[in-house]
Amino acid sequence: MPVCIIYLINILHLQIPTTVMAMVDSSVGGKTGVNHPLGKNMIGAFYQPQCVYIDTAVLDTLPDRELKSGISEIVKYGLIRDAPFFQWQEENMEKLLKRDPVATRYAIKRSCENKAEVVQADEKEAGVRATLNLGHTFGHAIENGSGYGTWLHGEGVSIGTAMAATMSEKMGWIDEGLKKRTYDILESADLPVKLPNNSPMKVETFNKLMSLDKKVADGQLRLILLKGDLGKCMFTGDFDTNALQETIEEFVKDIDS
Ligand code: GLY
Repeated sequence: MPVCIIYLINILHLQIPTTVMAMVDSSVGGKTGVNHPLGKNMIGAFYQPQCVYIDTAVLDTLPDRELKSGISEIVKYGLIRDAPFFQWQEENMEKLLKRDPVATRYAIKRSCENKAEVVQADEKEAGVRATLNLGHTFGHAIENGSGYGTWLHGEGVSIGTAMAATMSEKMGWIDEGLKKRTYDILESADLPVKLPNNSPMKVETFNKLMSLDKKVADGQLRLILLKGDLGKCMFTGDFDTNALQETIEEFVKDIDS
């Protein structure tokens, strides 16, 4: 019910998510939004549901592609703040892909716990909540620039997460090993980590669309980047712009190879 704060003014609502993406991310935290030609969720408000009711039985009929798309947000929690959860995912990805009920319930519960902790600390996204957008600035540009509907949200986020890890490694903020683990876990979930050969994405497309991101402040792009050991990240506008351009160029160059 994305417009519930406007339609019928603050009507009470419950969230009953039916995809992994909604269960681990969008149903929790009170972001409500509608899309605009300039981008997804450009118009919105914070309005918490009375409760979020998750029944994982409904996932039995979820298409595989949607399942994997949701897993990219599960991976995000491990990368930004929960190293033991990331390690658990490395050991249990096959079970998640096979829809093992115990593993699925654990991954969804742990993701919701992570999200709830972040939202409790920063409901209106003054700071730490922005870290939930790891890979999203690149990912939203890919979703928009490729034509909405080409990529599922989690697929765009997956390529975006690979780009964030690549850029972080270029700046020396993470080591090669963590970059590799990031790529490996996404690939183990059969998620994309590069743009496909027919992608229309160009360097200019990234630069233009990323400049429209909600996290731009005073004309300054701010990104979530990995920094330090597994489970640590930063939300910052203070990064090496050359590393950003090199990363974009590297991913765009890869399209033709
Ligand atoms: N999906 C990110 C957030 O709810 O803040």
